[in-house]
Amino acid sequence: MAEITRISPSILAADFARLGEDVADVCKRGIDYLHIDVMDGAFVPNISFGSAVMKSLLGYSTVPFDVHLMIEDPDRYIDDFVTENTEFITVHYEACSDLRHTLKHIHDAGVKAGVSIKPGTSPGVLEPYLKDIDLVLVMSVEPGFGGQKFMDNSLPKISYYADLKKEYGFNYLIEVDGGVGAKNAHIVKKAGVEVIVAGSAVFKVEDRSAAIAAIKGL
Ligand code: DX5
Ligand code: ZN
Repeated sequence: MAEITRISPSILAADFARLGEDVADVCKRGIDYLHIDVMDGAFVPNISFGSAVMKSLLGYSTVPFDVHLMIEDPDRYIDDFVTENTEFITVHYEACSDLRHTLKHIHDAGVKAGVSIKPGTSPGVLEPYLKDIDLVLVMSVEPGFGGQKFMDNSLPKISYYADLKKEYGFNYLIEVDGGVGAKNAHIVKKAGVEVIVAGSAVFKVEDRSAAIAAIKGL
């Protein structure tokens, strides 16, 4: 029986005019986390939303928040995203001047710490930190926008982290983010992914339940 993969739909692809209802709707369809894509217009060439929007969803989401901070110098805002429903806060390796300090900041706030690398960043940069990381987020698109095409060069990175996890017994979850849907979920799973972020493939399709089940491998 194939491994059931966890799914974390990205609200960047939801209907912002009806965000609460859209979130409540996908929560009824067997998702595991809610992916909160925070963009500052500086680290990435787009602006999405801040912690106030995430907090407005506390009454609608029945699954934990998987926060993806695509922002410069994330230490400034980590505390704003800490709620009783926040499971992960993920920062970008490329945006941190002292990653060890940032990881400690997230852990001291009682939240699991994730680190993400952009497509152009080599996976080895995280090696010195892996024992202190709870989630590795491999970007399979250039961060900044939903609806982009999956980049195959993310696959060897996923396998790299899966191999290290097996060899050294690290505890991090491996998550992939960008351009993943029912058609290519099996490819990233084969590479070693444990959590799949999916924005358009969930929020922008007719049958959301079928898409979620297909991506999870149910
Ligand atoms: C891109 C974001 C992704 C994106 C995923 O910067 O980090 O989470 O919203 O959207 P899809 O699944 O549509 O590529
Ligand atoms: Zn994301």
